[in-house]
Amino acid sequence: MIASERLTILTGASRGLGRAMAQQLLAQSGATLVCISRRSDDALAELARQAGASLEQWELDLSEPALAAGRLGAWLQAVDPARFARATLINNAGTVGQPRPLADGVAADLAQALRVGLEAPMLLAGAFLGATRDWTGRREVLNISSGLGRNAMGSQAPYCAAKAGMDHFSRAVALEQAALPNGAKIVSLAPGVIDTDMQVQLRGTPADAFPDRERFVQLKANGMLDSPETAAGKVLGYLDRADFGSKPVADVRDA
Ligand SMILES: NC(=O)c1ccc[n+]([C@@H]2O[C@H](COP(=O)([O-])OP(=O)(O)OC[C@H]3O[C@@H](n4cnc5c(N)ncnc54)[C@H](OP(=O)(O)O)[C@@H]3O)[C@@H](O)[C@H]2O)c1
Repeated sequence: MIASERLTILTGASRGLGRAMAQQLLAQSGATLVCISRRSDDALAELARQAGASLEQWELDLSEPALAAGRLGAWLQAVDPARFARATLINNAGTVGQPRPLADGVAADLAQALRVGLEAPMLLAGAFLGATRDWTGRREVLNISSGLGRNAMGSQAPYCAAKAGMDHFSRAVALEQAALPNGAKIVSLAPGVIDTDMQVQLRGTPADAFPDRERFVQLKANGMLDSPETAAGKVLGYLDRADFGSKPVADVRDA
């Protein structure tokens, strides 16, 4: 068999940036897409049917990341690697929770943000890299980070910590993979600012809990947000760059 298919595992495909990436990936020939979100999407299933693409949608809560990582590892062990010329994990799911100072935080919300935003990407990356270790095709991990992993903002400590952790674990894993014969490339990528539910949530938080709220109001008012479709095109374009992986921490706006 000649490897011709492209396998992508994508978290947070039900809305926003992830949904737009799923749509664009399904339009490519030879696409096999595994989506992980709490909700599946009938429209994506229909799109896959029309495109002749293979789509699985796993309804999983990434705040229980060990379950998702276990399922991914078992699934990858069971498929025939010879089918795939390229295998990619995109850790896209994330949550800003309810922005507020840490001193006013709710423990369950804090744990949720860290589990979804940091623990799940690490466990999924571990499962993916372990199960595909001997695959001969191109292997990649793309972590969707944020400028807030690099620049701090009050009332966003869990999100900032999750994204900073994502950046730094990507640096560490890049070193590990560089030492392997067919090591994977890994990049933690800031995707720009995007007109999604996440921005709605930031603009909708009262200013007394979130002093930077007005910055997000102005981004929207001044037309500074990319549509999810535009952002997805930029992010997937970055993934296709010949130098993908040369900088483990990057910004989609990098030249
Ligand atoms: N929007 C921006 O301006 C911006 C800027 C910088 C970085 N980012 C990053 O870009 C990525 C996508 O953001 P977005 O704006 O598209 O966000 P979004 O519209 O809020 O969508 C978030 C996605 O994550 C999934 N998700 C959230 N909690 C989950 C959980 N517990 N289990 C499984 N899936 C979960 C959601 O699916 P379900 O709710 O269906 O489970 C949804 O598909 C995130 O990592 C975000 O941090 C966004």
